[in-house]
Amino acid sequence: MANSNHRAGNTTERFSSVGFIIAAIGSSVGLGNLWKFPYITGENGGAAFFLLFIVCLILVGLPVLLAELAIGRSGRASAASSFVRLGGGPVWRGAGLLQVLTPFLILSFYIIVVGWTLHYSVLAFSGRLFANDDFIGTFTAFSSGYWPLIWQTIAMILVGFVIAKGVANGIEKFNKILIPSMALLLVLLMIRALTLPGASEGVSFFLQPDFSELSPESALIALGHAFFSLSLGMGILMTYGAYVDKRQSLGTATVAIGAGDLIYALIAGLIIFPTTFAFGIAPDEGASLVFIALPAAFSAMPLGWLFGGLFFVLLAIAAITSAVSILEVPVAFAKEQWGWSRTRSVWTVAVICFLFGVPLGLSNGLVPGLMIGGRNLFDWIDFITSNILLPLIGVLIAIFAGYRWKGVAEASGLRPAWFRLWLFSLRYLAPILMLLVLLYTSGILSF
Ligand code: PHE
Repeated sequence: MANSNHRAGNTTERFSSVGFIIAAIGSSVGLGNLWKFPYITGENGGAAFFLLFIVCLILVGLPVLLAELAIGRSGRASAASSFVRLGGGPVWRGAGLLQVLTPFLILSFYIIVVGWTLHYSVLAFSGRLFANDDFIGTFTAFSSGYWPLIWQTIAMILVGFVIAKGVANGIEKFNKILIPSMALLLVLLMIRALTLPGASEGVSFFLQPDFSELSPESALIALGHAFFSLSLGMGILMTYGAYVDKRQSLGTATVAIGAGDLIYALIAGLIIFPTTFAFGIAPDEGASLVFIALPAAFSAMPLGWLFGGLFFVLLAIAAITSAVSILEVPVAFAKEQWGWSRTRSVWTVAVICFLFGVPLGLSNGLVPGLMIGGRNLFDWIDFITSNILLPLIGVLIAIFAGYRWKGVAEASGLRPAWFRLWLFSLRYLAPILMLLVLLYTSGILSF
């Protein structure tokens, strides 16, 4: 039988219970928290948007998160096979494969950004970042040279090494060191930011509720971001779920992961806005926020090289722990599908993903001709995965757990009242709302 391999064996590697929660938080806290969340919050009514984000997280994000974990733990297979193991037919095999392809594609461009964060950490600590004030020039010169390619290589090797060491000795140990370090750096940088003269203006931009700024569009942005921020639809939590001990409470883990993601996002905003506002610098979105606006702000503060350097280390940690989680998805698939060793799976996937990412990296500067329809290759892969594939997979997961899966009640481990609420979200709220997000992000629905 062609696909007998993926039915062959159960995953045998396991996380410890705390280790699993820390690793899942490591996955969820990423660039989304640090360079996207603060900005969209500031733009969409501050605390009003933050509340909306929490509502989306609770009503849709956490139910889908729990569904991924429960499917993973019951299936005890890679993200490509868990649906099938739990009774799904060939269509669900297709959905599973999509769930492995998507993280592969995401990793191909995410690893490039991991490289940027590593480069900027070195640049800041060596003092070279602050040697002149032209931060736009510095970023453009960097992205149109060969260095991004070198850092992309280093980042992929680093992430590959962690995954090659396995679930408990690699992913779990790595996160157990880095996640507390990240918390420490965040608190330190938050204290620095909040004690800057003029910090309060930044805090009000971030958190003063302005309900008039909220629109149906804000709701879809909040929902889409809740989904991305929890690393849903990327096969990650389903893959991790397969390594969770059967006695662990998935409900408790879900709440802990959601709370962790939220707290890290909140603190990130309390660093970014006070820092930029204190020096009169406009907080921009995405790459320009962290690689242009923030260096400008850090350069204006005493010991800016130190705080700037620590900020980039923080960013690098957030990005690497997420990259690690996403590489595990295609690796688990390769192990299962072809019966390869972990080492062989890791380096095969890493090399192919790296090679696939090379033109994407080059399209950012070195070879500006790599444009199709007004987007370069890097932006295309980002657009297709984040805006189309992730919400689509989200709908599929909700439908599978809500309608298709017979063993759902038992697998969730929830008390009946909670179970009914969960099922309500999976059957009605999550699929309908994620479908709206999909129509919106793909450009079919606009405001
Ligand atoms: N939750 C992650 C973030 O906020 C999303 C992500 C995970 C992206 C893994 C890439 C890889 O950045």
